[in-house]
Parts: sequence; structure tokens; C-alpha cells
Amino acid sequence: MRGLPLNKVKMADVVQQATRENAIERMSATFSAVESSGQLDINELQKIADSIMYDVIDRPENLLQLTDIRLHDTYTFAHSVNVSIISAMIGRLLKLPKEELSLLTLGGLLHDLGKIKVASEILNKNGRLNDEEFSEIKHHPEEGARRIMEMADMLPHPEILARIAEEHHERLDGSGYPHNKKSNEIHSFSKVVAIADVYDALTSERSYKRPYTPSVTRNIMVNLSKGHFDESLIHLFFNNVAVYPVGTILKTIYGFGIVTKCEFGHTETPSICVFADNEGNMKDKPERIDLKDDGTRAIEMEVSGIELLHFIHKLTFNPMVYLTEEA
Ligand SMILES: [Fe+2]
Repeated sequence: MRGLPLNKVKMADVVQQATRENAIERMSATFSAVESSGQLDINELQKIADSIMYDVIDRPENLLQLTDIRLHDTYTFAHSVNVSIISAMIGRLLKLPKEELSLLTLGGLLHDLGKIKVASEILNKNGRLNDEEFSEIKHHPEEGARRIMEMADMLPHPEILARIAEEHHERLDGSGYPHNKKSNEIHSFSKVVAIADVYDALTSERSYKRPYTPSVTRNIMVNLSKGHFDESLIHLFFNNVAVYPVGTILKTIYGFGIVTKCEFGHTETPSICVFADNEGNMKDKPERIDLKDDGTRAIEMEVSGIELLHFIHKLTFNPMVYLTEEA
């Protein structure tokens, strides 16, 4: 088979991989310290938040493309880091002053602190949670807020950090937990972290579920979860996420194409290189098309998962080769 392996296409993310890896490692140490001594090394935590924030500020030209580098038992730490990155990105888009951006980034890191108290068998359970397990999970927002307030003298604006931890599972229509708060009762930072939290959870792989693609995740969050999230925040967010990341295979009205470029504000209508007709027969000459001229109607479906493997196998050709030509 010609071309590059599917998993070897590297795209620029809003943070460097080294920043992410380092942050996950340090978060793991921070959570252990809180668990064993109830003490938090705020300098260490602030360093993590700052490294994320400065990457996000320095790389505004990059769309969000989360890289899944987490290991099985580091899920909570990697998740906290991703939530922090996404929150920082939304904060930057909102043009928050640096001090507030730093606080929001820190809030993302600490939002799930209360999970320290939840048994790891429940957190990593392979399958659906029963009622009892779910009610244990439901305590983590308040537990997190309580722990943050216990360490209040070590933290900047602890009352806001505690609200983020307590409110990140609240939903604007009052359907969330623990207090069924409604839109005007929820802090704006908690609304940001809620979006970051759900986006990362849906796009990540867990022992009990496959990751959803960014476009499926967008559909779930924008269309199937109406009333849950702040409308303007969610649109701002998805305008800056690679909804169809470079390398995605799309079935379009022009045939099968591979995404070669995605742009800010047009994340749902990327540029593609059409390499096969609608029946899947290779074209003699691939054609480059910018889908923003047609709008989303040109896209029939995204080819992903097992379907993608079958498709590539049948082609006996790896369309990723068009990405290197693009470069
Ligand atoms: Fe949570």
C-alpha cells in the first residue's frame, strides 16, 4: 500500500505535545499530594496553568486538535489537562484579561479534584454505572469545592475555583447536578469548563467506549443537547475546533475526498482532495475542492472507524499521500 500510515499524520495543536505531557505528569503528582497530605503545591500548579496558557496565547493560528496520549490509569489527569487547555482556548477567544485567563486555566485543572474521593473501580468501570455508583460519582463536584475551600489560603480566588468545581456538571436548563442550577445562577467560567469537560469526555477513548469524532461530538453538543450549554460559547468554540481534522475522509457530492486544510470560521467546510468517485473507484487525476463554496450540503458523511479501515483496504491505496503533497 502506498502512502503514509494513518496514525502518522501530525497536525499543529493549540498546545505543544511536550506541554501536555509535562502537565499530565505534574498533575498526577499534584493529585497524589492532595490525597496524601491535603496540601497543594500552588507554585507547581500555577506553573502548569501558565505553561498551558502561554502556549494557547502563542499559538493562536492553530485549531484545537486534541491528541490522545493518555494512558489507561492517567485518565483523570490527562482529562484535567485537556479541559484546562480547551478552557484556556475559549478564554482567549473571549479576550479575557491575562489574570482571568490564568484563573480559568487553573479552574480547568482543578475541576475534577473531587474525584480523589471516588473509588478507581467506579471511575474506570468497564460498562454502565448502576444507580449507587452514579450517586457516588455525583458527589465529586461538591467534594472538589470543599477541598478547594479547605486550601483557600493557598489559592488565588478560591471562591471562583470552588464554583467551577461545584458547577461544571450544571446545565443551563437546570437538568444538571448537584443543584439543578439554571443559566443565570451558573458562573461564566463554569459554563466554559462544562463545554470543555463534555467535549473531552466524548472525544476520548475509555475502556467502555470508542472515541467520537469531533464532528459527531459537535452534533451531540450543538443539536442533541439543546439547552445544556451557552449558545454563543458553543458556537465560538466549534468555530475554532478542527471539526473535520486534516486527514479525515469525507464522502461528498463530488466523491470521496481527504481533508487537506481546515480554517477558522469555516471548520465545517474544509478543503479536500477528491481521489475517488462516488462508487469508490480511484480517479485518474485527484481534484482539490474548497467546500466552503458549497456550504455543508456537499458533505454526505464522514468515513470513520471500522468503515474507514475497510474503505482503505479496498482502495489498496492510502489517501494520506495527498497530505504530504499539500505540504
Ligand atoms: Fe466532573
